[in-house]
Amino acid sequence: MQESSTNTNYREWNIKPTIAANNTTNPIRAIVDNGKYKPNPSKSLIPLSIGDPCVFGNLNVEQSVNQVLKQNIDSMKYNGYPPSIGYEPARNAVAKFVETPTSPLIASDIILASGASGAIEIALSSLLNPGDNILIPKPGFSLYECQSKNKGFELRFYNLLPNKSWEIDITHLRSLIDNKTKAILINNPSNPCGSVYTREHLLDILAVADEFCLPILADEIYCSMTFGETQFIPIASLTSTVPVLAIGGIAKRFLVPGWRLGWIAIHDRNSILGADFKRSIISLSQIILGPNSLIQSILPTILDVNNEGIQKFFKEVNKTLECHSNLTVELLSKVDGLSPIVSHGAMYQMVGIDTKKFKDIDNDVTFMGKLLEEESVFVLPGTVFGLPNFFRIVFCAPEDKLRDAYKRMEDFCQRHKL
Ligand SMILES: Cc1ncc(COP(=O)(O)O)c(C=O)c1O
Repeated sequence: MQESSTNTNYREWNIKPTIAANNTTNPIRAIVDNGKYKPNPSKSLIPLSIGDPCVFGNLNVEQSVNQVLKQNIDSMKYNGYPPSIGYEPARNAVAKFVETPTSPLIASDIILASGASGAIEIALSSLLNPGDNILIPKPGFSLYECQSKNKGFELRFYNLLPNKSWEIDITHLRSLIDNKTKAILINNPSNPCGSVYTREHLLDILAVADEFCLPILADEIYCSMTFGETQFIPIASLTSTVPVLAIGGIAKRFLVPGWRLGWIAIHDRNSILGADFKRSIISLSQIILGPNSLIQSILPTILDVNNEGIQKFFKEVNKTLECHSNLTVELLSKVDGLSPIVSHGAMYQMVGIDTKKFKDIDNDVTFMGKLLEEESVFVLPGTVFGLPNFFRIVFCAPEDKLRDAYKRMEDFCQRHKL
């Protein structure tokens, strides 16, 4: 007998985007990838938009790093599954690389992950339940939002102050805290601001964390990528009371974002987070079964602080980025309508747009779109970081490309001025 359509086993195809998928939105993709803006076909594209130092081929990983990787491939020792939190020698190397005399670490304090992004995702899930909130910077890296919303974590944005070197507005930060607040996320040095916090400012942040018993999630992926006299100070080195989950990785410092290796360093000197927390974070690391074994295998060599070749490489990269940062400020501060805010680290420059000076540019998204369409220079509008009327430049491109891009920006602003 034929089955009737009322049979409860009868189903029709009906596959829809899930709630998690619908709640996963990356503001950069939403604004920039909507197909609305196209570069000018008669001008070569200069992309200063993505935080990838490899785009132009002028910044490359140190040669010895590649050699170690090749040897380790040939050894056949790293083809199996490592523990989900990473090989012990690799974690030990990270511990030595990240620790300071006042914030010592051992291998068991380190969780390796698939990029700093993977580390942030694990850290967020280890601190928040759905409905809890976390305080995050505005302007800030859009991935925090992307990773939180689909898990039902609430984001509360604290303001950074452009006229105070992008320091946190501490009064505003405090005003956002309630009994559902589970952590304060800071990003130092900052994407998109290029700011680097002073000891005093870090102590001010720690005072709030201490008062409200809130752990710090410190995204320090740009650690030590600083210019001139500016020093990077790991926030964990300044506290013995506030637990700090410090995020790092090799993407930016070693110029290999595609290698996907990051970590969480758990600083918990008073055992406030305790053994249960470590167990839960290890459980969360098991979702992905850990990061790439081959890349882990090179960490003991490349993170060795006595590796002179690598230390020299770090200095050279910082010097190049510093020159590019200085060039950016020098050239763009001469352009009427633009106000670059000096960077002290990372690879980013925020530039203010005075829309009153332009006849047909009323916001940063229009500025970005027209600049791309007319001059084929691609920057990201501040809106994607939560701060309209700014745009962000990634200054990793070779100097001649930067000069060309800034000349085109000058011509563009000239053409559009009131
Ligand atoms: C502030 C910040 N944190 C984390 C990441 C992600 O790093 P990874 O490529 O290691 O996932 C980035 C990448 O641009 C970043 O700018």
